[in-house]
Amino acid sequence: MDDFKGKVAFITGGASGIGRGIAHALARAGAKVAIADIREEALERAVTTFPKGSTVLAVKLDVTDRKAWVRAVDEVEEKLGPIDILCNNAGIALPRGPIANATYEDWDWCLGINLGGAVNGVATVVPRMIKRGAGGHIVNTASVGALVAGAGEGIYSTAKYALAGLTEELRSDLMQHKIGVSLLCPGPTQTELFASSDAVRPKGSPTGYVRPPAPGQKPGAPPPMSNITMPPDEVGEKVLRGIRRNDLFILTHPEFRHLIKARCDALLSAIPNDPIPAPRKKFGDELVKDVIYAEQIAKGSPQ
Ligand code: NAI
Repeated sequence: MDDFKGKVAFITGGASGIGRGIAHALARAGAKVAIADIREEALERAVTTFPKGSTVLAVKLDVTDRKAWVRAVDEVEEKLGPIDILCNNAGIALPRGPIANATYEDWDWCLGINLGGAVNGVATVVPRMIKRGAGGHIVNTASVGALVAGAGEGIYSTAKYALAGLTEELRSDLMQHKIGVSLLCPGPTQTELFASSDAVRPKGSPTGYVRPPAPGQKPGAPPPMSNITMPPDEVGEKVLRGIRRNDLFILTHPEFRHLIKARCDALLSAIPNDPIPAPRKKFGDELVKDVIYAEQIAKGSPQ
């Protein structure tokens, strides 16, 4: 997608952070944006942050509510027009801790929003995009935690890895409809993620995790988060570029290259060096529609 002028974008979790950063970038490029979020006050604040002349519609939506999805998309289509760009971005984060601590309520809450919210977005919007036949683009916000594990983000990473699977399958499905699909994997970004997660968690829901107190300003305390995290508008600009180029993966933080490479190396080195009988080789070649990795195949895999 080259020209964003007049295109309609629907961005969940658009009231703050990365979602708002994406919405800003799209609005600057001339798109009409609908920001959907569960927090009404945050939506009200967010609409005031757009450049003059932007078309911005705030829509209250809980991404786990399937009926509300239909109402929200109907409203946006009526007021702004059919959706060209869907950003499934709403998400929450639990405090870090071992998986063994998780309650079922922790699992249901995190998977329900971080994975189920995107499933609901896809189920509501994609059939309409296909029916309309005008192409489009979908961005699913995962995380570096969708590519490498081990940071104590067990349930969160589980949801984000699953979101990566959904995204790649969807990309393969939707190529024939000229609908691009990208997986956004940001690293640490200056957002309201912890505060907003605590604010939207159902009251009294039993949890196995405790949020540590915010770092104090005492000598020796960790540096302010703003020094080690990326501004969300910078992430938004990278998303815009990713949509333009129809990138499969949109990564933002080069500092995680070595971790991602280590995982890719672990995968490659786990492939047995056994001889492959001819029928199995043919079956293997045909099984995977590798068109979504065409660029990587053209470059040749590192051995
Ligand atoms: P944020 O808290 O600023 O934005 C998330 C938004 O989602 C909030 O406005 C919140 O109200 C909304 N939300 C939560 N539950 C919802 C629901 N059920 N329905 C509708 N809206 C809901 O946080 P941030 O960081 O911008 O998060 C956006 C996405 O980026 C999330 O998917 C998160 O997992 C992901 N991410 C964030 C990173 C970071 O360092 N901040 C790093 C990697 C990924």
